[in-house]
Amino acid sequence: MKFFIDTANLEQIQEAYDLGVLDGVTTNPSLMAKEGIVGQQNILDHYVKICEIVGDGDVSAEVISTDYEGMIREGEILAELHENIVVKIPMIKDGIKAIKYFSEKDIRTNCTLIFSAGQALVAAKAGASYVSPFIGRLDDIHLDGIHLIEQIVGVYNNYFFETEVLAASIRNPLHIVKCAEIGADVVTCPLSSILGLLNHPLTDAGLAKFLADHKKANG
Ligand code: E4P
Repeated sequence: MKFFIDTANLEQIQEAYDLGVLDGVTTNPSLMAKEGIVGQQNILDHYVKICEIVGDGDVSAEVISTDYEGMIREGEILAELHENIVVKIPMIKDGIKAIKYFSEKDIRTNCTLIFSAGQALVAAKAGASYVSPFIGRLDDIHLDGIHLIEQIVGVYNNYFFETEVLAASIRNPLHIVKCAEIGADVVTCPLSSILGLLNHPLTDAGLAKFLADHKKANG
């Protein structure tokens, strides 16, 4: 399972990369705005900076347009920026048409804002490279986000779709483990959720005892 980090914060991307387990980055307009990245040229420059940190990893950059022509125009500019850019497109009718267009041009896409298996099925048929089902936002309204990932993985396996299931809106380390159990291809997570996987109180207690015993024996 690939680990992506879900942020536009360069320090956090660098920290995840330095940990040695980072496979890519996802951003969205809210995450870019949160970092104060505004204006078209600054936004494009920021995507290039992210690509330079993550080396071979994919970087999802989202279009703002919601009409077909606008998405094509924006997506082509984004794809030109760097070979690792994946054009992120919302799950709307014109978005599906744009995904089909890009798949025929060998430009990779990530279909975002997926909340049902039916949406994921259509995105895969259009040729999306990734679909992003949002776990946390479903959990927030007492629907089962992990169950949706399981459903989509099952549907894709039935028909050998090549579209990768990129589990998004991850809120905690347990989401990551559950996604691994059910075969999601990718998880995109906040840095805190990735770091949370490292923690166990028995690890801390065990290490403290090893070090104390060593000290006692060696003076
Ligand atoms: C994924 O690509 C989305 O940008 C992201 O995971 C949404 O997460 P949120 O629900 O925490 O905003």
